[in-house]
Amino acid sequence: MCGIVGYYGPRAPKDVILDGLKRLEYRGYDSAGVAILHDGEFKRVRASGKLSELAKKLEGEPFGGRLGIGHTRWATHGVPSERNAHPHKVEGVSLVHNGIIENYQEIREELRSSGAEFTSDTDSELVAHLLAREVRGTNDLFAAVQGVIPKLKGAYSILAVWEKQPEVLVAFKNGPPLVLGVGDGEIVVASDVQAIVSYTNKIVYLEDFEIALVQGASYGVYSDKGEPLRKPVHTLNWNADAVEKAGFRHFMLKEIYEQPRAVAQAIAPHVDLDRMTVRLAGVGMDVPYDRLEAVDALKDSENTAERLSLVERVFVIACGTSFYAGQVAKYLIESLAKVPVETDIASEFRYREPVIPPRSLVVVISQSGETADTLAALRLAKRAGAMTLSICNVRRSSIDREAQGHLYMNSGAEIGVASTKAFVSTLALVNLFSLFLARARGGITADQERRHLEALLATPAQMEAVLSYDKWFAEAAERLKGYRGVLYMARGVNFPIAMEGALKLKELAYMHAEGYAAGEMKHGPLALIDERMLIVMVAPTDQHYEKTLSNLEEARARGGHIISLGTGDNQELKRLSRYYLSLPKAEWTVNPILAVIPLQLLAYHVADNLGHDVDQPRNLAKSVTVE
Ligand code: M6R
Repeated sequence: MCGIVGYYGPRAPKDVILDGLKRLEYRGYDSAGVAILHDGEFKRVRASGKLSELAKKLEGEPFGGRLGIGHTRWATHGVPSERNAHPHKVEGVSLVHNGIIENYQEIREELRSSGAEFTSDTDSELVAHLLAREVRGTNDLFAAVQGVIPKLKGAYSILAVWEKQPEVLVAFKNGPPLVLGVGDGEIVVASDVQAIVSYTNKIVYLEDFEIALVQGASYGVYSDKGEPLRKPVHTLNWNADAVEKAGFRHFMLKEIYEQPRAVAQAIAPHVDLDRMTVRLAGVGMDVPYDRLEAVDALKDSENTAERLSLVERVFVIACGTSFYAGQVAKYLIESLAKVPVETDIASEFRYREPVIPPRSLVVVISQSGETADTLAALRLAKRAGAMTLSICNVRRSSIDREAQGHLYMNSGAEIGVASTKAFVSTLALVNLFSLFLARARGGITADQERRHLEALLATPAQMEAVLSYDKWFAEAAERLKGYRGVLYMARGVNFPIAMEGALKLKELAYMHAEGYAAGEMKHGPLALIDERMLIVMVAPTDQHYEKTLSNLEEARARGGHIISLGTGDNQELKRLSRYYLSLPKAEWTVNPILAVIPLQLLAYHVADNLGHDVDQPRNLAKSVTVE
């Protein structure tokens, strides 16, 4: 989704804004632009395509001023093109916008009838028109933004500057994230801290319906009614190095290699190694609940374990890769803790009028913590009186801030649009959560908990071994890219891994791929199988192995070419498969963490071999802040 950067300070705004936009590239975009103060006016430069196109246009451009705004656009209204790129400029007001104005038609008609002429097809330009009209009356940009807000419907965050107040930048948030970096004599405003950390680690997070007024190097945050707010300044412990490629060709490959560490970091805060028990440190499910009979008992409970022991139903809600992690959670929680679990795609959950019974726990999973549908699902769950728990990577993101309890992936910044390390961290966390819940409800013994924990603690080292398939896939990519499509199959807890493998191939290699429960094959997909179809069968030695083997025989009999993933030196799988990849012996609970790595590598190498932009696949965005 779009990226926003604004800067006031002594450095060249052009450099800070371009650098910030570069760090936001991972969000996905199709055009970019800046408006920077020079000789009393905001000079606008825009370009279609990659940031390098904008950088070329900016070469040698003199900008004398200290203030500027910039934007990477991910098209919603109007095709990707220079004329639709931001900033939009109307009568001295320049504006960048992230989100969607839902009453766009209505506003456009109203502006047109009062004589406005448009230079783009975007909803964003309309906001610039409204602001230009408003500022004529208020003669003050802050007041003009306040005046325009009630006229807009939808989710939108904006930065605006006006030539008559050349030291003033106004930022407003309603939906897509906006953060302020407060440096020494300088202020950076951006969609994500990654655009800020090179300049300062002092961060102020804007909430919905808050307006930040930057005046020179000072700032204030106000409600949309203009009341001043006291906002905490958070100190980040990130640094800019965390968002470099560190010698890898792509962020995605670097992040795949960081997975063992990501899993270890996700686990570390939550394991009592002396007692070999899960402690879910800092999860903090202690916010008072307002639903009466449903949660009275929960309210009185002493600690997280007691509260969770009263949970009678769990909902796990997420989108995309996070949703598949949620589906793994279903297998783990139901099997270990014996609590019924419903999983739902957030965009379905929020509109399907779900029945959320008393004593329900709603777990939302989101790497970015900003996914619009997941955030809406969380809000719905809270309105229904459920306990809520978020699993996020980005701390202080919207979902993290709004959920009652929190688990952190601790993966470090994930830049590749295709999620990898955040996924495995989540799988580790749902392992821990299932064990904790199982223990709280008396579903497993201390010995069982120890056995599962030992298996989980062993996974980072086992993952290192699986990473050696990197070389194999690099060599096999040329052959693998020639298939008409790929069917990923598995059973049980690995079934979501088959779907995740298929998603990775779709989003990176743009090849058709499906993830199927292996037992479903004869109910339709078997018809697809011939020698042009590659089958990837995830078949570790677990309680489903024998049945999966039969499915493999069926696929082979139809001429499908098979890559199988099994445990250890499995002769049966070797005989049935064109390629056999051995995974380390592990508990069934952690097999998904190991099995997903070869599938990520497959997608990465095939996509790279096809010459695709692996870190920024076409049409996709890292942080999906519109529904
Ligand atoms: O930030 P989130 O985890 O909420 O994002 C959810 C999906 O948009 C995300 O997982 C998406 O499917 C990725 N492109 C997967 O690689």
